[in-house]
Amino acid sequence: MSNSFQSRTASPSRRLSQVSNPGLLVVVADPLDLVFSLTQAPLPAQAIEEIQGLVTSVFESLDPDVPWRIVNMPAFTVFEARSAGVLVGFKMGYAHARRRYYSWLGGVHPDFRHRGIARRLMTSQHRWLTEQGYTSVETSARDDNIAMIQLNLSSSFGKVGTRPKDGIATLCLKNSWLPRDRIRLLSCPLVATI
Ligand SMILES: CC(C)(COP(=O)(O)OP(=O)(O)OC[C@H]1O[C@@H](n2cnc3c(N)ncnc32)[C@H](O)[C@@H]1OP(=O)(O)O)[C@@H](O)C(=O)NCCC(=O)NCCS
Repeated sequence: MSNSFQSRTASPSRRLSQVSNPGLLVVVADPLDLVFSLTQAPLPAQAIEEIQGLVTSVFESLDPDVPWRIVNMPAFTVFEARSAGVLVGFKMGYAHARRRYYSWLGGVHPDFRHRGIARRLMTSQHRWLTEQGYTSVETSARDDNIAMIQLNLSSSFGKVGTRPKDGIATLCLKNSWLPRDRIRLLSCPLVATI
Protein backbone atom coordinates (compact mmCIF):
# COMPACT_ATOMS: atom_id res chain seq x y z
CA MET A 1 0.00 0.00 0.00
CA SER A 2 1.54 3.28 -0.91
CA ASN A 3 0.87 6.92 -0.22
CA SER A 4 -1.27 6.40 2.86
CA PHE A 5 -0.45 10.01 3.61
CA GLN A 6 0.62 12.73 1.29
CA SER A 7 0.98 16.38 1.98
CA ARG A 8 2.11 19.30 -0.07
CA THR A 9 3.73 21.77 2.23
CA ALA A 10 5.32 25.09 2.44
CA SER A 11 8.96 24.57 3.28
CA PRO A 12 10.59 26.77 5.90
CA SER A 13 11.73 28.89 2.97
CA ARG A 14 8.11 29.95 2.37
CA ARG A 15 7.69 33.38 3.86
CA LEU A 16 5.35 36.29 3.82
CA SER A 17 7.45 39.25 2.82
CA GLN A 18 6.68 42.89 3.30
CA VAL A 19 7.95 44.85 0.30
CA SER A 20 8.90 48.53 0.34
CA ASN A 21 5.37 49.62 -0.59
CA PRO A 22 3.66 49.64 2.83
CA GLY A 23 0.45 47.66 2.91
CA LEU A 24 1.45 45.41 0.05
CA LEU A 25 2.02 41.87 1.27
CA VAL A 26 3.63 39.48 -1.17
CA VAL A 27 3.60 35.71 -0.77
CA VAL A 28 6.89 34.30 -2.02
CA ALA A 29 6.12 30.94 -3.59
CA ASP A 30 7.92 27.92 -2.23
CA PRO A 31 10.63 27.27 -4.83
CA LEU A 32 11.09 23.69 -3.59
CA ASP A 33 7.44 22.68 -3.89
CA LEU A 34 7.99 19.97 -1.29
CA VAL A 35 5.67 16.99 -1.07
CA PHE A 36 5.96 14.43 1.74
CA SER A 37 4.58 10.91 1.38
CA LEU A 38 4.73 7.41 2.81
CA THR A 39 5.27 4.22 0.83
CA GLN A 40 4.84 0.86 2.49
CA ALA A 41 6.18 -2.53 1.41
CA PRO A 42 6.12 -4.06 -1.07
CA LEU A 43 7.88 -1.23 -2.86
CA PRO A 44 7.69 -1.16 -6.66
CA ALA A 45 10.99 -1.78 -8.46
CA GLN A 46 11.05 1.81 -9.73
CA ALA A 47 10.75 3.16 -6.18
CA ILE A 48 13.63 0.94 -5.02
CA GLU A 49 15.78 2.18 -7.90
CA GLU A 50 15.03 5.79 -7.05
CA ILE A 51 15.90 5.25 -3.37
CA GLN A 52 19.14 3.51 -4.33
CA GLY A 53 20.04 6.52 -6.47
CA LEU A 54 19.54 8.95 -3.59
CA VAL A 55 21.28 6.65 -1.07
CA THR A 56 24.29 6.60 -3.41
CA SER A 57 24.30 10.43 -3.62
CA VAL A 58 24.00 10.83 0.14
CA PHE A 59 26.45 8.13 1.26
CA GLU A 60 28.68 8.08 -1.85
CA SER A 61 28.23 4.31 -2.19
CA LEU A 62 25.48 1.73 -2.11
CA ASP A 63 25.62 -1.06 0.45
CA PRO A 64 24.04 -4.21 -1.07
CA ASP A 65 22.18 -4.48 2.22
CA VAL A 66 20.01 -1.53 1.16
CA PRO A 67 17.93 -3.29 -1.55
CA TRP A 68 17.96 -6.49 0.52
CA ARG A 69 16.46 -4.85 3.59
CA ILE A 70 13.93 -2.89 1.52
CA VAL A 71 12.59 -6.16 0.13
CA ASN A 72 12.99 -8.47 3.12
CA MET A 73 12.47 -6.62 6.39
CA PRO A 74 9.03 -6.67 8.03
CA ALA A 75 6.62 -3.74 7.96
CA PHE A 76 9.10 -1.81 5.83
CA THR A 77 8.30 1.86 5.23
CA VAL A 78 9.92 4.77 3.48
CA PHE A 79 8.90 8.31 4.26
CA GLU A 80 9.80 10.44 1.27
CA ALA A 81 10.30 14.11 0.50
CA ARG A 82 10.05 15.21 -3.11
CA SER A 83 10.84 18.50 -4.74
CA ALA A 84 9.13 19.00 -8.09
CA GLY A 85 8.57 15.25 -8.16
CA VAL A 86 12.21 14.32 -7.54
CA LEU A 87 13.13 12.32 -4.45
CA VAL A 88 15.32 14.54 -2.24
CA GLY A 89 14.92 12.98 1.21
CA PHE A 90 14.02 9.64 2.74
CA LYS A 91 13.63 7.89 6.07
CA MET A 92 13.41 4.11 6.01
CA GLY A 93 12.58 1.69 8.78
CA TYR A 94 11.13 -1.67 9.71
CA ALA A 95 9.73 -3.57 12.66
CA HIS A 96 12.05 -5.63 14.81
CA ALA A 97 9.30 -6.70 17.19
CA ARG A 98 5.51 -6.43 17.23
CA ARG A 99 5.59 -3.06 18.99
CA ARG A 100 9.19 -1.96 18.41
CA TYR A 101 10.29 -0.22 15.24
CA TYR A 102 13.77 0.38 13.93
CA SER A 103 14.38 3.68 12.16
CA TRP A 104 17.14 2.42 9.97
CA LEU A 105 18.41 4.85 7.40
CA GLY A 106 17.70 8.42 6.44
CA GLY A 107 19.25 11.07 4.30
CA VAL A 108 18.66 14.33 2.51
CA HIS A 109 20.31 15.30 -0.76
CA PRO A 110 23.17 17.74 0.01
CA ASP A 111 21.48 20.51 -2.04
CA PHE A 112 18.36 20.31 0.14
CA ARG A 113 19.81 20.26 3.66
CA HIS A 114 19.12 22.71 6.50
CA ARG A 115 15.52 23.25 5.43
CA GLY A 116 13.85 21.04 8.02
CA ILE A 117 13.31 18.11 5.66
CA ALA A 118 14.88 15.44 7.92
CA ARG A 119 12.97 16.73 10.92
CA ARG A 120 9.71 16.68 9.00
CA LEU A 121 10.36 13.11 7.83
CA MET A 122 11.08 12.00 11.39
CA THR A 123 7.98 13.70 12.80
CA SER A 124 5.84 12.00 10.15
CA GLN A 125 7.41 8.64 10.89
CA HIS A 126 6.84 8.95 14.65
CA ARG A 127 3.24 10.05 14.17
CA TRP A 128 2.59 7.07 11.89
CA LEU A 129 4.26 4.66 14.36
CA THR A 130 2.05 5.91 17.19
CA GLU A 131 -1.04 5.49 15.02
CA GLN A 132 0.05 1.93 14.15
CA GLY A 133 0.43 0.95 17.82
CA TYR A 134 4.21 0.81 18.06
CA THR A 135 5.43 1.79 21.52
CA SER A 136 9.03 2.63 20.78
CA VAL A 137 11.41 3.41 17.98
CA GLU A 138 15.12 2.72 18.04
CA THR A 139 17.89 3.99 15.86
CA SER A 140 21.65 4.25 15.73
CA ALA A 141 24.12 6.78 14.45
CA ARG A 142 27.87 6.94 14.26
CA ASP A 143 29.39 8.80 17.15
CA ASP A 144 30.86 11.38 14.76
CA ASN A 145 27.59 12.04 12.89
CA ILE A 146 26.83 15.28 14.73
CA ALA A 147 23.91 16.29 12.49
CA MET A 148 22.04 13.00 12.94
CA ILE A 149 22.76 12.79 16.66
CA GLN A 150 21.57 16.37 17.20
CA LEU A 151 18.41 15.65 15.26
CA ASN A 152 17.73 12.47 17.24
CA LEU A 153 18.42 14.01 20.65
CA SER A 154 16.16 16.96 19.85
CA SER A 155 13.39 14.53 18.79
CA SER A 156 12.97 12.72 22.15
CA PHE A 157 15.53 10.01 21.52
CA GLY A 158 17.76 9.09 24.45
CA LYS A 159 21.07 7.26 24.39
CA VAL A 160 20.82 3.64 25.51
CA GLY A 161 24.27 2.37 24.64
CA THR A 162 27.20 2.29 22.29
CA ARG A 163 28.40 -0.48 20.02
CA PRO A 164 31.23 -0.75 17.54
CA LYS A 165 30.31 -0.86 13.86
CA ASP A 166 33.04 -1.30 11.28
CA GLY A 167 35.45 -0.24 14.00
CA ILE A 168 33.59 3.02 14.66
CA ALA A 169 31.67 3.81 17.83
CA THR A 170 27.96 3.88 17.07
CA LEU A 171 25.37 5.30 19.44
CA CYS A 172 22.17 3.37 20.02
CA LEU A 173 19.19 5.62 20.67
CA LYS A 174 15.65 4.91 21.70
CA ASN A 175 12.45 6.92 21.82
CA SER A 176 9.64 5.30 23.74
CA TRP A 177 6.18 6.65 24.21
CA LEU A 178 5.58 4.30 27.16
CA PRO A 179 7.21 5.60 30.38
CA ARG A 180 7.75 2.08 31.75
CA ASP A 181 9.48 1.10 28.52
CA ARG A 182 12.13 3.78 28.96
CA ILE A 183 14.01 1.69 31.49
CA ARG A 184 14.25 -1.43 29.33
CA LEU A 185 17.78 -1.17 28.04
CA LEU A 186 17.64 -3.96 25.53
CA SER A 187 18.11 -1.88 22.46
CA CYS A 188 21.81 -2.07 21.76
CA PRO A 189 22.47 -5.44 20.18
CA LEU A 190 25.81 -7.12 20.58
CA VAL A 191 27.47 -7.41 17.22
CA ALA A 192 29.94 -10.01 16.04
CA THR A 193 31.71 -9.71 12.71
CA ILE A 194 31.54 -12.98 10.78
C1 LIG B 1 21.45 14.25 8.96
C2 LIG B 1 20.63 14.81 7.80
C3 LIG B 1 19.59 13.74 7.37
C4 LIG B 1 19.92 16.11 8.25
O1 LIG B 1 19.08 16.53 7.18
P1 LIG B 1 18.49 18.02 7.10
O2 LIG B 1 17.26 17.97 6.27
O3 LIG B 1 19.57 18.94 6.68
O4 LIG B 1 18.13 18.32 8.62
P2 LIG B 1 17.09 19.40 9.14
O5 LIG B 1 17.21 20.63 8.35
O6 LIG B 1 15.75 18.78 9.24
O7 LIG B 1 17.67 19.69 10.59
C5 LIG B 1 17.07 19.13 11.74
C6 LIG B 1 18.05 19.19 12.90
O8 LIG B 1 19.19 18.37 12.64
C7 LIG B 1 20.34 18.96 13.24
N1 LIG B 1 21.30 19.26 12.20
C8 LIG B 1 21.12 19.19 10.86
N2 LIG B 1 22.28 19.46 10.21
C9 LIG B 1 23.20 19.72 11.17
C10 LIG B 1 24.58 20.02 11.14
N3 LIG B 1 25.26 20.15 9.98
N4 LIG B 1 25.24 20.17 12.32
C11 LIG B 1 24.59 20.03 13.50
N5 LIG B 1 23.27 19.73 13.59
C12 LIG B 1 22.58 19.59 12.45
C13 LIG B 1 19.88 20.21 13.95
O9 LIG B 1 19.54 19.85 15.27
C14 LIG B 1 18.61 20.56 13.16
O10 LIG B 1 17.70 21.29 13.92
P3 LIG B 1 17.74 22.90 13.88
O11 LIG B 1 17.63 23.28 12.42
O12 LIG B 1 16.53 23.27 14.66
O13 LIG B 1 19.04 23.30 14.48
C15 LIG B 1 21.55 15.19 6.60
O14 LIG B 1 22.59 15.97 7.08
C16 LIG B 1 22.13 13.98 5.87
O15 LIG B 1 21.51 13.46 4.94
N6 LIG B 1 23.31 13.55 6.29
C17 LIG B 1 24.00 12.43 5.60
C18 LIG B 1 23.28 11.13 5.79
C19 LIG B 1 23.31 10.65 7.20
O16 LIG B 1 24.28 10.85 7.93
N7 LIG B 1 22.24 9.97 7.58
C20 LIG B 1 22.13 9.35 8.86
C21 LIG B 1 22.66 7.97 8.83
S1 LIG B 1 22.02 7.09 10.24
